[in-house]
Amino acid sequence: MSSKLIVGNWKMNGGLAANQVLLDGIKTGLGAMRCRVGVCVPFPYLAQVQLLLANTSVDLGSQDVSAQVSGAYTGEVSAPMLRDFGVRYAIVGHSERRQYHGESDELVALKTKQALAHGITPIVCVGETLAQREAGETEAVVKRQLAAVIHENGHCISEIVLAYEPVWAIGTGRTATPEQAQAVHAVLRAQIKAATAHAERVSILYGGSMNAANAADLLAQADIDGGLIGGASLKAADFLSILQAAHRCAG
Ligand code: PGA
Repeated sequence: MSSKLIVGNWKMNGGLAANQVLLDGIKTGLGAMRCRVGVCVPFPYLAQVQLLLANTSVDLGSQDVSAQVSGAYTGEVSAPMLRDFGVRYAIVGHSERRQYHGESDELVALKTKQALAHGITPIVCVGETLAQREAGETEAVVKRQLAAVIHENGHCISEIVLAYEPVWAIGTGRTATPEQAQAVHAVLRAQIKAATAHAERVSILYGGSMNAANAADLLAQADIDGGLIGGASLKAADFLSILQAAHRCAG
């Protein structure tokens, strides 16, 4: 994997004024960072953030995408609409959407397909709950979640970004150890390799309380190609520290 990919997931945070301050801070500290960077913002701010990111190396992302292309689907936002705003990445299957919006593995697979069909890179999230980890089911759960996406998307799987986000580590301050994360990443890597001859194209991100203090150790793992950052992406200094850690991995 050439360079690390760091993506901020703002979740349901931000506002016109706050977004400007945050992105001004990030742009000021960005310099010639040797890593790929994206921010996934709430839908209403796509137009604003598209303008603020013009002429920067930071890519724009959304936090979801509809499995439908158009029509009577109140409240949904389609992949072509996202393309209108220059969206490069769409998070799909985040555990908060699986948990609070009942998104199934099959729906996540269809959303992945829509994104790919319209030139948007889906960031497909998988991860186990604490109960599943304690029951020794981690590997089976993430494999099942990824298998549904592979089943629906076939060889196009080489065009996704994958994110391993243990549910128990999201927003809790309880990060997976580098060894725990690496072990799951290796399982996911093997599954991707079995599905496509172009597995090297797939970046596998870690997400779940990644921050300035632990990013370097996580990013040093062989199969951790970057991070999906929630809380620490909302403060420019914290996000920049993670970008610095990714930059240093580039040698
Ligand atoms: P966190 O969120 O960094 O706040 O744990 C990560 C995510 O949910 O994508």
